Amino acid sequence: MASAETIIRELTVNDLTAVATVHLAAFPKSALTALGKEAVRRYYEWLLVGPHDGAALAAFSENQLAGFCFSGIFRGAMSGFLNRNRFYLMVRVMTHPWLLFNPLFRDRLATGWRVLRRLSKPKPAQVTATPPPAAPRAFGILAIAVNPAVQGKGAGKLLMLAAERIARQRNFELMDLSVSTENKQAIDFYERLHWRKVLKNGVWAGEMIKSLNENN
Ligand SMILES: CC(C)(COP(=O)(O)OP(=O)(O)OC[C@H]1O[C@@H](n2cnc3c(N)ncnc32)[C@H](O)[C@@H]1OP(=O)(O)O)[C@@H](O)C(=O)NCCC(=O)NCCS
Repeated sequence: MASAETIIRELTVNDLTAVATVHLAAFPKSALTALGKEAVRRYYEWLLVGPHDGAALAAFSENQLAGFCFSGIFRGAMSGFLNRNRFYLMVRVMTHPWLLFNPLFRDRLATGWRVLRRLSKPKPAQVTATPPPAAPRAFGILAIAVNPAVQGKGAGKLLMLAAERIARQRNFELMDLSVSTENKQAIDFYERLHWRKVLKNGVWAGEMIKSLNENN
C-alpha cells in the first residue's frame, strides 16, 4: 500500500511553494487559484505564521509533497490574509483585470472587500462586562488537499488521522470542517473517515463534525 511509504511531518515555510503547487492542481477552479501561485503561497504562509493555534502537516511520498492539511483554530484565516497582502492583491487584480469576469472570483472579491472595510473601521469603545461562557470549541480542518496525481493512495487519510491525533493530544472532544456541498469526492472521503453532516432546520450547508469521544 502506498501509504506505507508516505511520511507525515510538520510543514515549514520552505514547503510553501510546493503547497501552492498542490493547491493549484487540487483546486483548479478556486478563486485563490485564479489569483496565481504567489497569492496561494502567501495565503498558506499566513496560515502558517499568523496568530493561530494550528497544526500544519505535510505528506511526503518519494521526496515530493503529496498533500497538506491545515488544522486547528484559525484567527482571521481569510481576513488576516487579505489585510496583510492588500497591496499585493490590489496590484494583482489591476494587472489581471480579466479575473473580474470570473463570477466565483467576483463573489470572493466582494466578500474580501466587505471584510477589509470592516477591519478598517475604528473599533467601538470596549464595554467591561462579564463575557458569556465560551462555547466548547472544535478543532477545525481548514484545508486539506492531495496532489491529483497521487490521490486515492492513502495520503489524505494519513493527514486526517494525524490532525485527529493532535486534536486529541490538545484535549479537544470535537472536530469540524466546512465543505462545498457539491464536492462529492471530499464528502465521500470525510464520511469514510466517520465524519457526519450537520443539518440545520433539515438543510445541510456543508458543515461536518467528528466527535472524538466516539469509538471510531
Ligand atoms: C479529498 C482528498 C483530500 C482525499 O485524499 P486522498 O489521498 O485521495 O484520499 P485517501 O486515498 O487517503 O482515501 C481515504 C479513504 O477515503 C476513501 N475515498 C477517497 N476518495 C474517495 C471518493 N472520491 N469516493 C469514495 N471514497 C473515497 C478511500 O477509498 C479511502 O477509504 P479506505 O480508508 O477505506 O481505503 C483528495 O481527494 C483531494 O485533495 N481532493 C481535492 C481537494 C479537496 O476537495 N479538498 C477538500 C476540501 S474541503
